[in-house]
Amino acid sequence: MCGIIGYIGNQDAVPIIVEGLKKLEYRGYDSAGLAVCGADGFSVVKQKGRLDALEIRLKQQPLSGFAGIGHTRWATHGEPSDVNSHPHVGQQNRIAVVHNGIIENYQEIKEYLQQKGVTFHSQTDSEVIAQLAEYYYDKELIKTVVKLSRRLEGSYALGIMCAAHPDVLVAVKKDNPLIIGVSAHGHFIASDIPAVLKHTNQVYYLEDNEIAVLTAQGVQFFNTELETVSKKIETVSWNPEAAEKGGYPHFMLKEIMEQPQILKDTIANLLSGKGAEVMQQIDIKKFTRVCITACGSAYNAGLVAKYVFERLLRLPVEVETASEFRYKDAIIDEQSMVILISQSGETADTIAAMREAKRKGAFTLSIVNVVGSTLSKESDVCIYTAAGPEIAVATTKAFSAQLTALYLLAVRFAVGLGRLTPTQAKQYIGQIQSIPKKVAEILQEVDTVQRYAAACVGYKSVFFIGRNLDYAIATEGSLKLKEISYIHSEAYAGGELKHGTISLIEDNTLVVTLATVEKLYPKILSNAEQVLSRGARVLWIGNAQTDDYGGRLVQLRLPPIEELFAPSLSVIVLQLFAYYIAANKGLDIDKPRNLAKSVTVE
Ligand code: AGP
Repeated sequence: MCGIIGYIGNQDAVPIIVEGLKKLEYRGYDSAGLAVCGADGFSVVKQKGRLDALEIRLKQQPLSGFAGIGHTRWATHGEPSDVNSHPHVGQQNRIAVVHNGIIENYQEIKEYLQQKGVTFHSQTDSEVIAQLAEYYYDKELIKTVVKLSRRLEGSYALGIMCAAHPDVLVAVKKDNPLIIGVSAHGHFIASDIPAVLKHTNQVYYLEDNEIAVLTAQGVQFFNTELETVSKKIETVSWNPEAAEKGGYPHFMLKEIMEQPQILKDTIANLLSGKGAEVMQQIDIKKFTRVCITACGSAYNAGLVAKYVFERLLRLPVEVETASEFRYKDAIIDEQSMVILISQSGETADTIAAMREAKRKGAFTLSIVNVVGSTLSKESDVCIYTAAGPEIAVATTKAFSAQLTALYLLAVRFAVGLGRLTPTQAKQYIGQIQSIPKKVAEILQEVDTVQRYAAACVGYKSVFFIGRNLDYAIATEGSLKLKEISYIHSEAYAGGELKHGTISLIEDNTLVVTLATVEKLYPKILSNAEQVLSRGARVLWIGNAQTDDYGGRLVQLRLPPIEELFAPSLSVIVLQLFAYYIAANKGLDIDKPRNLAKSVTVE
């Protein structure tokens, strides 16, 4: 979604802001801009297009100043255009605003202000914020912001500057992330940590309806009653390099390669760190129903978890996309546990699903990667994955970390229900602890996948099939391929082929077949033979002995592991498969078209 950065300090704000916006590009955007505040008001440069185009514009129209706000826009209201870009400035050129989120009552505010003689220039919801702030402004900036926050409905993270107060930068948020960075030379507001990491690892996480007032000298926090709020500063453990590519051609490949380490960190944290404490707090016996809800890849992780939970807990587990869950009037109550999975912790549908679950009295457990995110703060308990900053839009390491968190949760709950003895649990945990090493083994063999993928660039459609757990992880393989290579693909339960899909199988159709569930080998092999006999080619991922059918079946084996956790190994092959096809197509792998890293609006 949109990205915000603001700076006030003793250095020129413009290069700092531009550099910070570059670190937010991964959030997906179609336009960018910035404003600096000088003694004679605002200077604004903003336009449709990428940041390098903005930099060219800034060379032609140089700006400088000690305070400024910047923005990358992912259009939600009003098409991508110069006039719809942020910052938006009120008609008196007095207040400038950058906004991430959606103002749900912007139409009524706009009509109200138009009746008062205010002229609007853009089609955005965000412009009403600047115009309303100017309308309210009565020389007291913070009071204006309080009044503004009470009038706006919807979600927002705002950076606000006022020409009459050039030495002040104000921030306020509701349902959208905003951090406050504190450095030796100045202070920051930003949508996410990578934007400020080069300057500081000391940050505050702004809470909903808190107001941050930044000057070159320091930061103060107020609530909407204008009472001072004291906040704890947090130290971010991510170093600047962690948010850089580290020498890889794409963040996605770097993040694929980071998986052994981050899985080790995640498992360690969940076995003995803060995550373990959180898991110990949960009495699974209190619940008669478990629902898992999430979006995209996080939903696919939930599909895998369903099979693992049901196998170990012998409890029915429902999995639902959050966009469906939030409106379905779910049959849940105090005896239900709703598990919400989200890398960003800011996905609008998943947040709404959590709030709906809480409204119905259910216990909400979130599995989140971004510390301080909305989901992590509002769910009853939160288990953090330790995947570090995931910059590529297509999730890999965070997905794998979610799987290991779900496995450990399942083992702990199974012990809690008496379904596993401590000894059995220990054996399962030993298998989970072996995942990082086995992932590393697979990553040492990438050239096999790379060669196979290079020959797949021309496919227009690819099928992924599997049974049981293999079907669940096949959905993730299909999504990975679609989102970064733009090749259409579908994931099917192997047994479903004959109910329609098989009519699509032609000469050379590619069918990626997941085969790690031992008792179902004969069944999935039969499905593979059904498509081979109709001319298909098969990429067989699994260890069952099989023929190569005249070279039309290629087998990729996996290190042996407890079958329940095999998805953590097969998904590595699927990630590499999708990555190398997209890389061979020369696509913008880290920022695929139309996609955003965190979908913070409906
Ligand atoms: C996955 O590669 C996609 N980027 C997307 O499906 C993502 O998983 C989904 O939007 C959910 O995001 P979240 O985990 O941050 O909630």
